[in-house]
Parts: sequence; structure tokens; C-alpha cells
Amino acid sequence: MRNTANDMTPFIGFIGAGNMASSLLAGLVQQGVPGTQLGATDPDPDKRASVARIDGLLATADNATIARRADVLVLAVKPQALEAACRSLTDALSGREPVIVSIAAGITTTTLTRWFGRELALVRAMPNTPAMLGLGATGLFATEKVTDAQRGVADQLFRGVGKAFWLESEADLDLVTALSGSGPAYFFLFMEALVDGARELGMPVELARALTLQTAVGAAHMAQDSGQALSELRRQVTSPGGTTEQGLKVMEREGMRRIAREVLMAARARAAELAHELGDGSDAR
Ligand SMILES: NC(=O)c1ccc[n+]([C@@H]2O[C@H](COP(=O)([O-])OP(=O)(O)OC[C@H]3O[C@@H](n4cnc5c(N)ncnc54)[C@H](OP(=O)(O)O)[C@@H]3O)[C@@H](O)[C@H]2O)c1
Repeated sequence: MRNTANDMTPFIGFIGAGNMASSLLAGLVQQGVPGTQLGATDPDPDKRASVARIDGLLATADNATIARRADVLVLAVKPQALEAACRSLTDALSGREPVIVSIAAGITTTTLTRWFGRELALVRAMPNTPAMLGLGATGLFATEKVTDAQRGVADQLFRGVGKAFWLESEADLDLVTALSGSGPAYFFLFMEALVDGARELGMPVELARALTLQTAVGAAHMAQDSGQALSELRRQVTSPGGTTEQGLKVMEREGMRRIAREVLMAARARAAELAHELGDGSDAR
């Protein structure tokens, strides 16, 4: 697991230095990982220059340089670019046993194993966009070859950008994709609908937006900090015969719970379909 360098921190290398890699690198630095134990590759000189602002970080256009050195190799390219990236790494990884962490949506460990041409220690991660702000929610799955130490580093990688949750089964990543991966958009739509509704009822749009956002932030904080069941929190703000009760009655009558379940089922089905389109997910589940 350890790099040969004197430093006992493993060397963490990124293939692709785009949005997600930049956020994960920032999270690692914030947790005290020294820049000398970090590396990133990207064909774009501007992206290399951007991550090279981390003191000591090794930025290069050559994937093999990073693959030869990394104890933890993070695949942070778009799913469509992943096959070429994996195949380009096989020679450099020959005789080495790093843990490979893939954040590409829909690419299964079976597909990754085929592209690498041998069985490696693999972690699949499904982060979401709030990771850019350090408020991400990430689902993680590890293959049997992944050691406890390697799990620890993968965990650290995603705790640096929010919260991380380990899954027992790889197929569960499809539901994570549907819930937290796509989830920000569901909340955006609901907030958009509240803002539009308030505007149509006569409120200036800026005020409606500000009230909606602050209410969403406040409700999420209350739910997270109180540790109470969501249903209990809802009951506490619902006085009998009051305004909230009337609003909630409409949500229940119009099928809010059924909509949520159908939204998840549709998104999960699409995640499974994408696995087939992007690689060969059929034999991973
Ligand atoms: N952004 C998110 O919130 C989010 C959430 C969940 C999962 N993910 C996953 O995270 C991955 C990265 O997303 P992103 O938003 O960070 O993408 P991004 O900003 O496009 O970054 C990917 C970078 O990798 C570079 N690249 C492409 N092929 C490469 C290769 N063979 N070797 C080295 N670098 C290569 C790309 O360069 P070019 O632009 O020149 O091709 C680009 O700079 C994706 O698989 C995505 O599914 C992202």
C-alpha cells in the first residue's frame, strides 16, 4: 500500500484533472495530505496548471508516469473516455497492485477488469455535484481484492468532499445514482416549483427564491442536526388545523410519495441501462 517514498502517506494519482479531480484534491489537501504525495494527469495544460497550484503536486500529461507511482489511482475522466484511459495504463501497471478508484457513472467493475486485462483491487464511487462545495454524498463499493488500508484511503478521499457510505453490493450503486447522484436536480425542481408558485401568487421572484433556498437549507440542517425521524420533524411543524397541515394534505392527495418512488425507479433503471451502453454491466449483477 505504501509508496517507497520516506513519507508514509500513500501516493494518490488522478487520471483526468477536471472538476471532480480538483474537488477531491482540494479535500485531500484540506485533510493535511502533502502535495508531494499527489499527482494528476490531463491533456489540457490549463487543467494541469490549475491543479499544479497545490504545492509539490506532480502534474503531467503522461498517464504512465502517474500509474507507475500511484498507490491509489483515481480514474476521473468522463465515462466515454474511460476505456481508452484504462487500456493506456496496462503496461505501466504491470507488476503493480495499486487500488483503482473509478468515479465514472455506469462503468462496472467487471467492465473495468476487462479493460485493464486483469483483476485489480477496484473501488467504484458515485459522488454527486455538491462535492464541489465539500457537501457531497458518495456511495462506495469495493471488490474483494481491496484491503482495509486501501478502503481507508478511498474513504478519506470522499470524506474530504462530504460524506461517504459503503455499499454491500455493486448493484446498489444504481439506486445511489438515482437517489443522491441525480438527487440535487430533484430538489432544484421542487424549489423551482415553489418559487414559480410564489411568484404567480404575487411575490417578487428574488424574495421567493431567497425564502425557498433558506428554508431548504434550514430544513436540511434541522434534519441532520436533530437526529430525529423526518416524520417526527414534520409532525412538530404541523399544528392541527394550521397552515402546514393544509399544504401537506395537498402533497399527500396528489401522490408525493408515489412520485418519489417512481422517480427513483425510473432513474435507477436508466443507470442500469447506461451500464450496458457504456460497457457490459450485465454480468456484474
Ligand atoms: N462532476 C460531478 O459532479 C460528477 C458527479 C459524479 C460522478 N462524476 C464522474 O466523474 C468523472 C469526471 O467528471 P468531471 O466532471 O470531473 O469531468 P471533466 O471536468 O470533464 O474532467 C475530466 C478530465 O479528464 C481529461 N481526460 C480525458 N481523457 C483523458 C485521458 N485518457 N487521460 C487523462 N485525462 C483525460 C479531460 O480532458 P478533455 O476535456 O480534453 O477530454 C478532462 O480534463 C466522470 O466519469 C463523471 O461521471 C462527476
